Amino acid sequence: MVHRPAGNVGPVDVPGIDPAHIPRHVGCVMDGNGRWAKRRGLPRTEGHAAGEDALFDAVEGALDLGLGWFTVYAFSTENWRRPVDEVRYLMGFNERILLGHRDDLNERGVRIRVMGRRDWRVPKRLIRLMDETVEMTRHNTGMTFTIAFNYGGRAEIVDAVRQIVRDGVAADRITERSIRARLYDPEMPEPDLVVRTSGEYRISNFLLWELAYSELVFTDVLWPDFRREHLFDAVREYQSRDRRYGGLTDRDDRGGGG
Ligand code: IPE
Ligand code: IPE
Ligand code: MG
Repeated sequence: MVHRPAGNVGPVDVPGIDPAHIPRHVGCVMDGNGRWAKRRGLPRTEGHAAGEDALFDAVEGALDLGLGWFTVYAFSTENWRRPVDEVRYLMGFNERILLGHRDDLNERGVRIRVMGRRDWRVPKRLIRLMDETVEMTRHNTGMTFTIAFNYGGRAEIVDAVRQIVRDGVAADRITERSIRARLYDPEMPEPDLVVRTSGEYRISNFLLWELAYSELVFTDVLWPDFRREHLFDAVREYQSRDRRYGGLTDRDDRGGGG
């Protein structure tokens, strides 16, 4: 295992990956825990538990790559629709994960952030732990690891619009920039790459505003089986893409050249 302290990013040495074109921000929709468990005749919660190793192997991979930002979707604003026992399990599970890993991540210079709605349904103890963790790591200069928890892309846009109204911004002064500035983390660069596991080809309300021009990579791997090598595969795929942002790139034939 490569234990490179974050913030001290050397040249990236992963076969087939161009160190000059590492995505700055990668997002991950960690999906497929329930199906992983079902295939083994286990309760869904065992799938979530098995997702812990996947998550921290992916974090190691993100550090190996020297990513600046790594964001994972841990609980959506729609996940409250699940059975109450599963929801309760996920709350406790996220608490244990934070407690179990924050000291190590902190020592390695990772800055941990949490994005999402802090509503009454999220246990107070979990909110307190998240706040403490964010505070404890806020001055770290390595990778920013963001946990999207009770997060919904639509809720984030609604919350930004509410803030614009509270700020008294006149209708014709509202721009993309004024909305962007009121998202949960205005410092967070838009994801260059978003990876979703489990063979589902959808966004499920993840970072809706931010992923307008993100490259999307879908894999059939179920989240508990995900390892850094799968993250590297996604980055290789990303590096083969041609990002145009609605314009043309050098790879295009612009015509009229002569
Ligand atoms: C992702 O796995 C974890 C969360 C959404 C919290 P799922 O629990 O959605 O697993 P599947 O999609 O049912 O297999
Ligand atoms: C997306 O997965 C949310 C998280 C990974 C936290 P879901 O399993 O909730 O998404 P759908 O229901 O398949 O769209
Ligand atoms: Mg799912």
